[in-house]
Amino acid sequence: MSTAYLNGRFLPLSQARISIEDRGLLFADAVYEVVCVARSRGVDLGAHLDRLWRSLQALGMSSPCSRRVLLLLLKQIIVCNRLRYGSIYLQISRGSASRAHAFPPTSCKANIFMVASHGSPPAASPMRITAVTLADTRWARVDIKTTNLLPNCLGLEEARVRGADEVIFYDSASEIMRESSKSNLWMLSSDNRLLTHPRTSNILGGVTRAAVMELALKNGITYKQEAFTRKQAYEAHELFLTSSTGFVSIINKLDGHSIGEGVSDNGANSIARKLYELYLAKLQA
Ligand code: PDD
Repeated sequence: MSTAYLNGRFLPLSQARISIEDRGLLFADAVYEVVCVARSRGVDLGAHLDRLWRSLQALGMSSPCSRRVLLLLLKQIIVCNRLRYGSIYLQISRGSASRAHAFPPTSCKANIFMVASHGSPPAASPMRITAVTLADTRWARVDIKTTNLLPNCLGLEEARVRGADEVIFYDSASEIMRESSKSNLWMLSSDNRLLTHPRTSNILGGVTRAAVMELALKNGITYKQEAFTRKQAYEAHELFLTSSTGFVSIINKLDGHSIGEGVSDNGANSIARKLYELYLAKLQA
């Protein structure tokens, strides 16, 4: 039986209950993080907490516990669940109050919970997926990690209906590619430049994206934060995604266009594979 954390208590998941007046439930007035767990350690915990704090601040919310306590709770839930590989979902909402659009009084206490999910050790090779593109209809502040994810879910469902594994959102006016329903997008262009969307309010600043950037720099792989279009993506040598749960995943088909996986060696020397291996080494270190 999985152990959850809710508002100050660790308890069996089946007993974790929250009010139906929770503002996260009523208005998506909540922020969240998904932290990868590898070898019983939370990966890049500091970066997740930094982003959580930025999200809270952007919504004018405050954390129900200090950063130090949250760090301890995250470590504790890993121990309680004997979690070796998997992830932790953490959510903080503005609290429970009678339904009204206006913020509740400041005396309203935030609701916080965490749930652990067991997973498997990462595979030796990156996952390969297919994707379709969809005009981005999400709100203008997707850099804030809120639970307001309905367009992401609808987009992913549309991808499934169209026979693909993932959706990539693009800006319909400029045709600029943004990100997937739950990960950041990278491209090795047809002229061999490694690009990913600049960190603006139109994408989430991924923790894995930042980790991969650091690994790239350390290993002499140059990249640029530069926007690219759908047409460029169709002609790319490589396309891949980064996220805490998918690590580095290769897109081998986009809207039916086959995407190369590196230009030679059947992908053995692809940049995505190299970054995947570097990321794996970081997880196992
Ligand atoms: N998703 N972009 C979006 C829209 C995301 O939802 C995520 C994370 C990312 C990648 O961020 P990170 O590298 O910090 O995981 C990018 C998580 C995994 C989720 O919602 O389940």
